[in-house]
Amino acid sequence: MRLNTACVFLVTWFWLALTVVAWGAEPSPVIKVLVAYHSVTGNTEKMAQGVVDGAREVPGTSAVIKRVGQVTRDDLFSADALVVGSPVYWSNMAGEVKTFFDDWQRKFGVFPELKMRDKVGAAFATGGQVSGGKELTMLSILAAMLGNQMIVVSGGGAFGASATTEGGSPGIDDAELVAAKSLGRRVAEVTRVVKRGTQK
Ligand SMILES: Cc1cc2nc3c(=O)[nH]c(=O)nc-3n(C[C@H](O)[C@H](O)[C@H](O)COP(=O)(O)O)c2cc1C
Repeated sequence: MRLNTACVFLVTWFWLALTVVAWGAEPSPVIKVLVAYHSVTGNTEKMAQGVVDGAREVPGTSAVIKRVGQVTRDDLFSADALVVGSPVYWSNMAGEVKTFFDDWQRKFGVFPELKMRDKVGAAFATGGQVSGGKELTMLSILAAMLGNQMIVVSGGGAFGASATTEGGSPGIDDAELVAAKSLGRRVAEVTRVVKRGTQK
């Protein structure tokens, strides 16, 4: 009887020790969010900063902000999540942002391995008019991501975060900045779930 009690004690102690070692050995992975944007007059850049600020609110997240033309192969392939922002140009993404997506293959060689596969993707846009193509712009960004088998999420709005910048608008207002932050937070939160789920 005494021997049994000693055995149970030893096994329990050993199991507890193993659990503590396992916790110590597997810290939560850092989530890497890349925010890439084009901007000439500063509106989309402000939204990009809002997305970064929101992502950084999620513990364990590192967020980097870059203009689309400055994104390197390593920036792209080492990121766990990518959020792309564009001004609306003629109801669609700006040519610079389209070139960025085209360069995934022409410069970085994303196919045939599908190197962006299972990374989280999201979009944001700014446009001068209330109904001038912001949703179409976000959807065309998301379509490029879907073509690369990324995991597309929204946040801040139905298709991403957006802002109306001309007419009576003060550029980016507080509510639009809140939407941008909310998108960044959601991207970081979803990415954490995906990354945990894919860890062996
Ligand atoms: C060439 C060009 C085309 C544009 N086309 C549209 C458009 O179709 N719809 C719209 O709502 N705004 C349009 N705009 C306005 C911009 O989308 C808007 O000012 C945007 O906020 C600019 O972003 P930025 O400050 O980051 O450069 C256009 C602007 C330019 C320069």
